[in-house]
Amino acid sequence: MAPKDEFTVSRRDFFKTAGVGGLAAGLIGPVELGAQSGVAEVGPGAVPIQLTVNGRRHSLTVEPRVTLLDAIRDRLDITGVKRVCDRGTCGACTVLLDGRTVYACSILAIEAQGRDIRTIESLAAEPALHPVEQAFCEHDGLMCGFCTPGLVMSTTALLEGTPNPTAEQVRQALDGNICRCGTYVKVLEAALATKGGRRG
Ligand code: FES
Ligand code: FES
Repeated sequence: MAPKDEFTVSRRDFFKTAGVGGLAAGLIGPVELGAQSGVAEVGPGAVPIQLTVNGRRHSLTVEPRVTLLDAIRDRLDITGVKRVCDRGTCGACTVLLDGRTVYACSILAIEAQGRDIRTIESLAAEPALHPVEQAFCEHDGLMCGFCTPGLVMSTTALLEGTPNPTAEQVRQALDGNICRCGTYVKVLEAALATKGGRRG
């Protein structure tokens, strides 16, 4: 038997206490949390934002919950960026944010304001293909093509920072991009064959 003044909690007491705590936590809504953190709140309704995509500034109105992927594809009609898993696992939606790869499905559009956003359309310049795109074509680095814009953007980001990567560096840079058609060997060849990743 426990000493009289020892702190003991019965199973019933535990659940009663946890229930009160959970209720208290549930009552701390966005307004209260925002006031506590000092972070300005927006939404849940649509708010005006500005995005700079491929060098062009766009003004749009979106709910704060809208992802960068949805804003780019559905609102700006820039469809080179692909939605496949929509949960940050496949890399099909890869874009460059200030030169670094991100999954556009996994960040909010509102978070990308003031950043330089680049999609695969930024590489296009008629009539020549970008060297990375050219290499993908020459080395058969694509089949169905759903993963290709993401792989091209990840390859471009790598080559802009590391013009002559090793095979291991290519593998590491592209390990967040899944190709269900299994073009990995060809993509590796394409990346290694591209010098600099910049237009000559
Ligand atoms: S669609 Fe974004 S990671 Fe798959
Ligand atoms: S080419 Fe089909 S998923 Fe990669």
